[in-house]
Amino acid sequence: MLIRRLEGRDLEQAARLERACFGKAAWSDAALNAALRDANALYLAAEENGELIGYCGIWQSFEDGEVMNVAVREECRRQGCARKLLEELFIHAGERGIRRFTLEVREGNLPAIRLYEALGFVTEGIRKDFYDNPKENALIMWCDDPSSSWVEFPGRE
Ligand SMILES: CC(C)(COP(=O)(O)OP(=O)(O)OC[C@H]1O[C@@H](n2cnc3c(N)ncnc32)[C@H](O)[C@@H]1OP(=O)(O)O)[C@@H](O)C(=O)NCCC(=O)NCCS
Repeated sequence: MLIRRLEGRDLEQAARLERACFGKAAWSDAALNAALRDANALYLAAEENGELIGYCGIWQSFEDGEVMNVAVREECRRQGCARKLLEELFIHAGERGIRRFTLEVREGNLPAIRLYEALGFVTEGIRKDFYDNPKENALIMWCDDPSSSWVEFPGRE
């Protein structure tokens, strides 16, 4: 699996994956395109055999980074793709000066919640009825030091 920057040439596959993962809440092609060009955002892609199998992004606000659009193709899940993407994302984010990470997740999305917990995120709040179709609360999760939960963090003894 190759982890690299998500680029304009990936847009078609990324938009398809976005729709498959998030349905009506999927970002539009235009929104994804704008995200790739935004200086405050950083998006990474996971590629296997020349195909996009996953991607994720982070939006920077000073020392905080909000993780967005974590998506992995259904047939490629549970093979460490999202974990690898996010670990690489956090390394690049750290180089940009991001020190604290946050995200929102549907309170019933257990695969994602377990993933974030495994990376060191903890739930610090709830936004009631934040999501539509179906209506659902959002958990607000934060992580001050993702590297503390990594087995293979670079430089770790
Ligand atoms: C959530 C998602 C990104 C996980 O991607 P993935 O590549 O399958 O995740 P990984 O293989 O890297 O899993 C890493 C860890 O997360 C947890 N995890 C992932 N999927 C899980 C599941 N279905 N059930 C329980 N734990 C799970 C486990 O701790 C796992 O480690 P393990 O396999 O050693 O037990 C993927 O299921 C997905 O794309 N879902 C649809 C989109 C979505 O909901 N995105 C999140 C929006 S907030």
